[in-house]
Amino acid sequence: MQRFDRDPLGAIEEGHRQYGPVFRMTVDGNETVLVGTGAGLGELFAGERGRLEVLNTPLVHDLFGQALFNLSGDGHAEARRRLRPALGGRALPGYVSSLLEVTGPAAERWAQHGVADLYVAARALTGELSARILLGIVPGEADAAVFAAVFERFVAATGAPSGRDRLMTGRYWAGRAARRRLHALFARRAAGIVMKRDPGSALAGLVTAFEDAPQAAGPLPHHLLALLIAARETTASLITWCLVELASNREDAARAQAEAHTAMVTPGVLARRDELPVLRAVLAETQRLHSPNLLSMREAVCPVDLGGYRIPAGTRVAYSPSAGHFDPEVFPQPYAFRPGRFLDGEARGARLWAFGGGAHACLGRPLAELMALATMASVLHRGVPRLPGGLPGRIRYRPAKAPLMAVPLVIDRQETAA
Ligand code: HEM
Repeated sequence: MQRFDRDPLGAIEEGHRQYGPVFRMTVDGNETVLVGTGAGLGELFAGERGRLEVLNTPLVHDLFGQALFNLSGDGHAEARRRLRPALGGRALPGYVSSLLEVTGPAAERWAQHGVADLYVAARALTGELSARILLGIVPGEADAAVFAAVFERFVAATGAPSGRDRLMTGRYWAGRAARRRLHALFARRAAGIVMKRDPGSALAGLVTAFEDAPQAAGPLPHHLLALLIAARETTASLITWCLVELASNREDAARAQAEAHTAMVTPGVLARRDELPVLRAVLAETQRLHSPNLLSMREAVCPVDLGGYRIPAGTRVAYSPSAGHFDPEVFPQPYAFRPGRFLDGEARGARLWAFGGGAHACLGRPLAELMALATMASVLHRGVPRLPGGLPGRIRYRPAKAPLMAVPLVIDRQETAA
């Protein structure tokens, strides 16, 4: 089989084309069973609880403690149950204005000065959006700068060696110190916010949900750090590719622009699934073509049957959220950006797996999609994005799909008059 890191997406897709929903290949030097296509993923997600566990490195266990993605069994299910209400669709209307208070000024800055590196700008934006919703931190307040700086040190530690060698590196220990400071910051924010009851933040709801949580569900600070990490690169990736595609498909951008103006007048539509069909179609088509996550890893804790094969305990198993996104039977002309396929009924959002599925399906999906919609609407309300340096050349796929080199972006204001 082709080596994983030469052309990861091509290798996985080609594997599924040749061998079907289940095949073996080497991932990062380890024999791994890849599961994909709609049928393969359906089987995987239906049967994973108690049979497959998320495979995280010692570094991830160490830095994130009892965070959701490090838990299994009843503790995991209990933590999900307690986190979900503050992150789910019903909570979204409460977050719309907080998000627009961040995306509006950011889009205005981008329109005035242009953006030197779209991915870097999108990552800064998702950092601010997550801090606003998950911690109640408003851009410009004193905690905003403190949080950004300390979080950055924590993020740097996630790049330390994944095994025992981590203990020999400065960035690992700096990350441990940063984690202590972040936990203290979370506790202080939680105490303040619960008193103020900020309706634009999820924090008060999360604090209440974890007040009487059993130990097995993990402490809220561990979950908060995990949410902040899970939200950042992935959502920045989605926003980046949405804007890249809008810049490259001006007819779609012009159609979406009409909805963006509506969203600025009646922001509540951003949280309603039956509104803004063109913007939502752009979001779905971008998820399909540019799924932010390349692979999710599991380990079989007992023998598992998948795709007609018996997979022994201890085997590494992985799925690529986007492995079924290029199937021409499901998505004709799979490599073309055609958001219209989601408008005319040719394609259904239910066939997209960018947010995973099963026991560990993304809990932040509603919030991530709202962040991306709010950003697109704020940008398109001011003009049409353009890439003066052309399309991204080389791409990296981990930790999330992103251009390898800086991609500049400008917003052409004159077209807002249309
Ligand atoms: C475009 C943005 C995002 C994408 C593409 C994405 C994708 C994913 C995927 C594929 C998984 C499943 C991983 C697995 O199967 O092991 C996942 C899990 C998770 N995501 Fe997201 N995510 C996004 C944004 C967010 C946001 C904004 C949050 C939080 C606010 C979040 C929180 C989580 C958490 C906590 C999990 C672990 C769930 C568990 O283990 O039970 N994600 N995400």
